[in-house]
Amino acid sequence: MKIAISTGGGDAPGLNAVIRGVVLTAVDRGWECVGIRRGFHGLYDGSGVIPLGYEQVRGITHLGGTILGSTNRGNPFRWPVTDPDGTVREIDRSDELMAAFRRERIDALVSIGGDGSLAIAGELWRKGLNVVGVPKTIDNDVFCTDTTFGFDTAVSTATDALDKLHTTAESHDRVMVVELMGRTTGWIALHSGLSGTADVILIPEIPFDIEKVCEKIREREARGRQFAIVVVAEGAKSIDGEAVYLERRGSGTNERFGGIGEQVATAIAQRTGKETRSLVLGHLQRGGSPTTFDRLLALRFGSAAVRAIADGAFGQMVAYHPPTVERVPFSDVVGRTRTVPLDSGVILTARHLGICFGD
Ligand code: F6P
Repeated sequence: MKIAISTGGGDAPGLNAVIRGVVLTAVDRGWECVGIRRGFHGLYDGSGVIPLGYEQVRGITHLGGTILGSTNRGNPFRWPVTDPDGTVREIDRSDELMAAFRRERIDALVSIGGDGSLAIAGELWRKGLNVVGVPKTIDNDVFCTDTTFGFDTAVSTATDALDKLHTTAESHDRVMVVELMGRTTGWIALHSGLSGTADVILIPEIPFDIEKVCEKIREREARGRQFAIVVVAEGAKSIDGEAVYLERRGSGTNERFGGIGEQVATAIAQRTGKETRSLVLGHLQRGGSPTTFDRLLALRFGSAAVRAIADGAFGQMVAYHPPTVERVPFSDVVGRTRTVPLDSGVILTARHLGICFGD
């Protein structure tokens, strides 16, 4: 049995731990492993596949990023090509990829990715490739799994940033607005905002009224608290507005969110007269060493993916349903987004603690 591993889409802390989990579990069975460079690019551009064994996965559990590299521009079914006149169009290169898998004599693929990469994995499986998926993303928005690896580390990084912003906000009597990642979901903003004692948390699942946000800041001021911390998920939108994008190159995963934090900060300054600063935490949330939780989850996911291959459970994704790692069919996962449930215990706790959601 020869297993290939691919890491696609935005990186997330824990990718290397998954790779180690796959490789050591496969080697334990006497199976062979290879890693495809940069998503599927290695099978297209000659940079190829690299052998993965004990040596290659030694000492990588704690490392952020991915030893294989990644890309969010390599969809084999919608591959962008630029015509001489500058027009960009998309072509289907999936047959070439299937041929490359056969050429490399790869029996099964472990595809580690978020919604976009898992959708591609599902399409490849329908074309006949033996695929098992592993859910990855700091955003925690993959359907059918209690959590993705990378999320816990991103939340820790964001919480640490909020702790640091508190001291400077309080020293200067300022409002600090922090924009966090999460695309169309507010998981990172909610969990770090609650843990990092934010006063306001704005998430895409709850459209906000800027006046309610300002009321909360004025109310704090009336109680002698001259500063405030406002956490804004990048996909948050006001009741009468749209999500704010840096770039829209099409639809779905090609959208780049960004800018809502600065808009909220400007509106707060105008309406309350308070000195306000904004900060985009950005890709810091994707970097660094995975937390213990993420390392453990990632190693378990990797190992479980190999057991799924051994059982012939293709077209499925390993998923965390605490305390066990289970399997769910791609068809249940793809095309769906796991948003924050509005009646969740975390939202309820935040409300009871006096945190404002702008509603
Ligand atoms: O999906 C992970 C994520 O980090 C999102 O939170 C963010 O919107 C996006 O990727 C940014 O992607 P990139 O800058 O790599 O295009």
